[in-house]
Amino acid sequence: MSAAALATIRDTIRRRSGIAMAADKDYLVTSRLEPLLGQLGVPHLAALADKLALQPDGQTATAVVDALTTNETLWFRDGRPFDLVRDTILPTIVGGASAPRDLSIWSAACSTGQEPYSLAILMAEQRARLAGCRVRIVGTDISATALARAREARYSQFEMQRGLTIQRLIQHFTKDGLDWRLKPELRAMVELHQANLLALPPLGPFDIVMCRNVLIYFDVPTKRAVLSGIAARTKPGGWLLLGAAETTIGLTTAFQAEPGQSGLYRRLS
Ligand SMILES: C[S@@+](CC[C@H](N)C(=O)[O-])C[C@H]1O[C@@H](n2cnc3c(N)ncnc32)[C@H](O)[C@@H]1O
Repeated sequence: MSAAALATIRDTIRRRSGIAMAADKDYLVTSRLEPLLGQLGVPHLAALADKLALQPDGQTATAVVDALTTNETLWFRDGRPFDLVRDTILPTIVGGASAPRDLSIWSAACSTGQEPYSLAILMAEQRARLAGCRVRIVGTDISATALARAREARYSQFEMQRGLTIQRLIQHFTKDGLDWRLKPELRAMVELHQANLLALPPLGPFDIVMCRNVLIYFDVPTKRAVLSGIAARTKPGGWLLLGAAETTIGLTTAFQAEPGQSGLYRRLS
């Protein structure tokens, strides 16, 4: 496989999704794409690169991007962001004299659903505080494959063991063969849509945005553009939670880091 062909594939991925893959990740490109060649109607990776060069915005490019996304996720990932929602953010939103009628939350790279559904579980647990408040949770992702799994809301025993307490498992899931399925009332709390952070549709504005463990894949200009798109969809005074290795600092002035609360940012009014 020529260096030029690999460069064409990397360029397609970067242009379409923002995911910047260095040449030392070529093993990932080949190992993920080779099993798909038959399905993509090409005999080898060089032919795939030729097809991408001819049709950079076609269905093949969409399938290539989908195959190269990293959908690693788990329930209540890192714990602390969800504690921040419960203990720091919710009191500011619903604790005042005039609690809002609506609360909107966006999981902006929701992968197979564990993040927005963890938020739904958290909101169900906070039902008493949220009485009279209509909660809307939106999950978006670029990957149609990950979203199909999120819509199904069916998880293996292994996936269930990653971050869910036994109490939450028993309360919110039912056994379905070897898998577990989230109960319908929790599924109904989450809307799922395919959306590219590089070309966001009109969404929101939201009170709370979780955009976690995706900025890490982007170069600096892409991070800036994505954060600007998120800022435009966050209410003034609304909250942004990023992943442990991510920050807004040096990338946007639309958000201010919340002192003493790493990973938490507030949209300036
Ligand atoms: C590592 S997962 C993170 C999932 C979840 N936020 C978490 O922290 O557990 C990264 C997700 O970002 C998505 N993604 C990558 N590039 C994207 C883009 N340009 N627009 C929307 N989603 C994207 C991938 O499909 C993947 O599901």
